[in-house]
Amino acid sequence: RAEVVINGSSSPAVVDRSNESIKHNIQPASSKWRHNQTLSLRIRKQILKFLDAEKDISVLKGTLKPGDIIHYIFDRDSTMNVSQNLYELLPRTSPLKNKHFGTCAIVGNSGVLLNSFVIRCNLAPVQEYARDVGLKTDLVTMNPSVIQRAFEDLVNATWREKLLQRLHSLNGSILWIPAFMARGGKERVEWVNELILKHHVNVRTAYPSLRLLHAVRGYWLTNKVHIKRPTTGLLMYTLATRFCNQIYLYGFWPFPLDQNQNPVKYHYYDSLKYGYTSQASPHTMPLEFKALKSLHEQGALKLTVGQCD
Ligand code: CTP
Repeated sequence: RAEVVINGSSSPAVVDRSNESIKHNIQPASSKWRHNQTLSLRIRKQILKFLDAEKDISVLKGTLKPGDIIHYIFDRDSTMNVSQNLYELLPRTSPLKNKHFGTCAIVGNSGVLLNSFVIRCNLAPVQEYARDVGLKTDLVTMNPSVIQRAFEDLVNATWREKLLQRLHSLNGSILWIPAFMARGGKERVEWVNELILKHHVNVRTAYPSLRLLHAVRGYWLTNKVHIKRPTTGLLMYTLATRFCNQIYLYGFWPFPLDQNQNPVKYHYYDSLKYGYTSQASPHTMPLEFKALKSLHEQGALKLTVGQCD
């Protein structure tokens, strides 16, 4: 049985983390996987000798007219007429004319996509970002501070309604509220509890045990990961090991620059800044990330950063 070594060193104390991703030499998604730019370009060039996707992706209006006769490719003897409707729907220019993308995702249709248990953090909005982050949610966490940060401490009916809508949208999922962590959350937790009961919100509430935080910290310390206080993300990973065979992590990137040195927002949905990950923060996210990356390299989990592969 292979031993899982999580991570040796603790990160040096630094305030400016802008170069953190370089310092830790963080590789794209899979550690063994590196984008081979030269090979990609060679393949493109070779394929271009046979076809030009920009043109071949669609027949254009200018090249056909209604009534033209076309022989089916696989049934050379059979023909079709270009109908008026088809002609109308033909694009004038290629839908991918002059398009170029840094990363592309191709999603297959295999059943492997089915039945994943999807865990999200801190009631992060999904509806408005569904195009990028998807919608499925089986468990979502909610630090009491979210009520302040994202719902203006429910100062008026509008914010209460907003939170209520978000809770209703959970539609039977598990809502995980760390209610016993810090006294600052006391009232906020009560407000949420009240709202759920009063409006018969269909969520399955869960409130982590009093020992969880220490236990999780203990586990990671034992494995030489000296975290100050585990982040929600790390808590979720640690819990997930109990009931998931394969764990895939998305949206873990506690650095202000991506691998190509372009700026990355701290959260996809708000304007919270990276100062948040400074020494003043109770978390040591880059250190956690390093530990997760190490587990990724050992195949214990799959960390996806940037393009899905
Ligand atoms: N995360 C990350 N990189 C970011 C932002 C978040 O890796 N740029 C991960 C962290 O593991 C984090 C989780 O995503 O725990 C959820 O994000 P957030 O809601 O900011 O996490 P919290 O840890 O709950 O922050 P806090 O405890 O201070 O509320």
